[in-house]
Amino acid sequence: MLNSNGKKILVIGSYNVGLTCQTNFLPVWGETLVGNNFSESNGGKGANQAVAAARLGGDVAFVGCLGNDRFGDEGLQMLERENVDISGVRRSSTKRTGVGFIFLNSEGENSILVDLGANNELSPNDVSVLQKIEEANFLVCQLENRLDTIKEAMRRAKQLGKTVILNPAPAKREALELFQYASIINPNESELLILNGEKPDAELTLERCTELASRLLKSGPKAVIVTRGEKGALIVTEDSVVQVAACKVKAIDTTGAGDSFTGALAFFLAEGKTLEEAVRKASVVGSYCVTKRDVIPALPTRQQLTEFEVQVVKS
Ligand code: RIB
Repeated sequence: MLNSNGKKILVIGSYNVGLTCQTNFLPVWGETLVGNNFSESNGGKGANQAVAAARLGGDVAFVGCLGNDRFGDEGLQMLERENVDISGVRRSSTKRTGVGFIFLNSEGENSILVDLGANNELSPNDVSVLQKIEEANFLVCQLENRLDTIKEAMRRAKQLGKTVILNPAPAKREALELFQYASIINPNESELLILNGEKPDAELTLERCTELASRLLKSGPKAVIVTRGEKGALIVTEDSVVQVAACKVKAIDTTGAGDSFTGALAFFLAEGKTLEEAVRKASVVGSYCVTKRDVIPALPTRQQLTEFEVQVVKS
């Protein structure tokens, strides 16, 4: 059942197949290591975010480019099953569907290497006259597509007065020029560091986190939301800094936690919640997501979210 107040969410982004293997060590060049527990799953930051919003009851369309291969067929079937409008999706006859090689350790932490393949075929021309941007209330983008394509989509959406959420992942400094078109950006801690020209594993106290987020505010967005894993989320705007606590859960797989947060944030804003309320709800969705393996199977419906909230409050 659609439940987003008649508001439409458009995700322009990536689809990747996730090839996950569990290991506590990453191989160095020239080395072969043995991992275990392999799984193949639907993913890609764009598709994950679209499904996260749709599962909660959002009216969601996805625009992206998939290859003309088995992975592409399965990706589209999944999105259709999840009630995501895929009428604006392109297929590439020359590039294969994107793939994410995901390494997962026993703490549930992940390392991901992506081959974007067909995702890079989505061009500025594809989005420059896209009717779906006019129809949408919210545009959600990430950085697994060509930057010029994302920039054009965001520029048009801003011009049309839409709320634009940019999840700057995977982070790169060149993306700073897109921030002028964003209403909200939501990096995680390592992305925040990279966007500020620092090492992704540098120490990040709350004060430093606030300072770096405030710096990004100067590039254009009205709000910077930093997702900080088990430390919760930080909302930084011109007028305030608000901390949102995370739920205490045992993480099985953190892959896609940021995606579940982003999709849920768009959904709850569409539903009419304030930014702070939407971030609180989206944080719970992120916590739910890390308690299960893979991404799409770990995204909650509205009912599952409600049950989880009750359970988390009790424990
Ligand atoms: O954010 C997680 C996603 O990043 C995975 O689904 C993987 O495919 C990569 O795109």
